[in-house]
Amino acid sequence: MPPAIRTLEWIPKQPDRLLPGFIRLLDQTRLPETLTFREVRDPTDLWLAIRTLQVRGAPAIGVAAAMGLLLSLQNTPFHSANELLAAVRKTAQYLATARPTAVNLFWALDRMSRAAEHLASTFADPPALAEAIAREALAIQNEDIAMGRAIGEHGVRLLDGVDAILTHCNAGSLATAGYGTALAPLYVAQEQGRSVAVYVDETRPLLQGARLTAWELIQSGFSVTLLCDNMAAWLMRQGKIGAVLVGADRIASNGDTANKIGTYALALLAAAHRIPFYVLAPTSTFDRALPDGTAIPIEHRPAEEITQFAGRGIAPEGVSVFNPAFDVTPAALITAIVCEKGLARPPFEESLRIFSAG
Ligand code: MRU
Repeated sequence: MPPAIRTLEWIPKQPDRLLPGFIRLLDQTRLPETLTFREVRDPTDLWLAIRTLQVRGAPAIGVAAAMGLLLSLQNTPFHSANELLAAVRKTAQYLATARPTAVNLFWALDRMSRAAEHLASTFADPPALAEAIAREALAIQNEDIAMGRAIGEHGVRLLDGVDAILTHCNAGSLATAGYGTALAPLYVAQEQGRSVAVYVDETRPLLQGARLTAWELIQSGFSVTLLCDNMAAWLMRQGKIGAVLVGADRIASNGDTANKIGTYALALLAAAHRIPFYVLAPTSTFDRALPDGTAIPIEHRPAEEITQFAGRGIAPEGVSVFNPAFDVTPAALITAIVCEKGLARPPFEESLRIFSAG
């Protein structure tokens, strides 16, 4: 089972209504040293929490943004449904600027905005409309939990005959509202009494593998081995890895996949060693508007993430820095993509289209 700790949740002030309330989130920048929970009460604070990776991972960012919209609906008295809808639109536009790559952010804000417009035809009274919009945000969260479970059940058959896997970054419970994506099959395998060893890339520069994935898997009783990113080729060469499992931030129509920087290198290494390379992500991570990965916006992050380590300078003053947070793995290097609806194999244009429909 994934750790019982909730990455984020909506806490209503009263038991019988969702609004007013606040977001309680686990500050992931503090792991593994401390388990610090934060109360987020306004959209600006949530924007900062997303930008600084206190809450991170594509599905969790989507859930956080959906809840973030609710924060703009509770401190102002709205005189009409239209006034409230204008606030939803404004906050959605603002939250959409927090990070550019994970499409789940835009997917969740778009779904919430469309739901709000639709609900306004039923609920003319602003407080009743706000409460109905809040139910939609909670539905996104619950669906995220169910989606992780389904990915785990579809993905677990990829582990048949596999003793050990390698993963990159954190696509686990901490990156979602529940089971995670890349780690979900491991949790399901564990429930079935099967043991799979997990090798975890530390994931420079922000160490999501070391700080988050290793932490959450150890909490759940897995055998975890940590390695620096540049050790993966040699590990594969020893014949230790049966499969590579990673998550995704955005998957284009042809299967090209944006995920944490270093994923592309792993896919190349897996191909060179004839190891299957699997991407696991919900359909909310599919971007049907993009034919391929060339137009996926890649976030570039501050130089200090590379020039400093644990608060200490490790590079000379004045050095230029290349710090993309994500890369795009070409579809040709991906063995299969697992989503909550099943397993897609190449050619992905066709198999992903079937899953995206309906
Ligand atoms: O910068 P991060 O920590 O948000 O990057 C996260 C990843 O790259 C994950 O692999 C991806 O979002 C999938 S999470 C299920």
